[in-house]
Amino acid sequence: MKILVTGGTGYIGSHTVVELQAKGFDVIIVDDLSNSHITVLDKIEEISSIRPEFEQFNLADVTKTKEFFNRHHNIMGIIHFAAHKAVGESVENPLMYYQNNIFSLINIMQNMKDKNIQNLVFSSSCTVYGQPAELPVSENSPIQKALSPYGNTKQIAEDIIQDTCKAYDTNAVMLRYFNPIGAHKSALIGELPLGVPNNLVPFITQTAIGIRKQLSVFGDNYNTADGTAIRDYIHVVDLAQAHVVAIDRMVNKKQKKKVEIFNLGTGNGFSVLEVIRSFEKVSGEKLNYKIVNRREGDVEQVYADTKFANDELGWKAKKTLDNMMESAWNWELALKEKI
Ligand code: UD1
Repeated sequence: MKILVTGGTGYIGSHTVVELQAKGFDVIIVDDLSNSHITVLDKIEEISSIRPEFEQFNLADVTKTKEFFNRHHNIMGIIHFAAHKAVGESVENPLMYYQNNIFSLINIMQNMKDKNIQNLVFSSSCTVYGQPAELPVSENSPIQKALSPYGNTKQIAEDIIQDTCKAYDTNAVMLRYFNPIGAHKSALIGELPLGVPNNLVPFITQTAIGIRKQLSVFGDNYNTADGTAIRDYIHVVDLAQAHVVAIDRMVNKKQKKKVEIFNLGTGNGFSVLEVIRSFEKVSGEKLNYKIVNRREGDVEQVYADTKFANDELGWKAKKTLDNMMESAWNWELALKEKI
């Protein structure tokens, strides 16, 4: 059973490829390598003893995408990760985000229709909820206006998928990720941020290892127990496993609706200071940080209602915050050894 993983050399994509292979799926990766490295294929092979098929091109390219699907007739399902994902960059260069993230989805869905490929798993984000009125936030909570072009591409993509699945013989599972962090236990694959990281955990590990001087904690005057913002951090391997369950459910025709939406989180909210404390505990490092002003566009707190995903998918995130921070630190240490 062959699954196309777009963006399969990226952070979440590479972990998902490993979990798919562990469950016996054949994987073909398409990635333009704009934000990942070809060497990830070697690492995947080292973990799984299986080298996934790989093709390098951008899925927004109509001709190349069509030509790809003309050559591959045995794809049972597609897990679509390939997308730009930096919030700040999307504000500076919105057309690049709309062009890449939206065109690639349309292209993929057009070819799914033409080639009668029925199963799509899509990477969405909890960003679609904005600051929810009620916590934990369930899949039925209202979608709020996106705060960035990046967030808007996720909302538009969800609409495109809904309309397309309604009209054609295509089915989808949309997975709304909370905050994926951590790395594979082998420390062979993990997150490789380009330049200065925007996200909390890579910034923490890079500060501890000496690449960055100091972590800025964005705001300590939120209405939370310690004043810092709260997120639902989920281990990337737990997240990857949810994709395998989702695609398996689709290819085995266990879907209850043409489009299903699931929150992927642990259901637990942790503050920025709690994340720092967990990091300090598992690494034995003292982190240099200071409190600064809030970051524009940040919500105060968000964490998932995971009941629907737990009950329907039979999937539950297993790893603790300490597990996540320990694996993130081991990954950073492994990267340092390579330099
Ligand atoms: C961010 C994006 C979100 C995207 C996700 C992808 C914004 C507003 N949101 O989520 O759309 O889907 O990344 O990974 O950018 N923090 C610090 N110091 C830092 C970095 C972060 O204090 O140097 C705090 C933030 O204020 C936040 C928490 O850490 O409270 C998590 O931040 P981050 O990792 O950037 O994720 P989100 O902002 O939740």
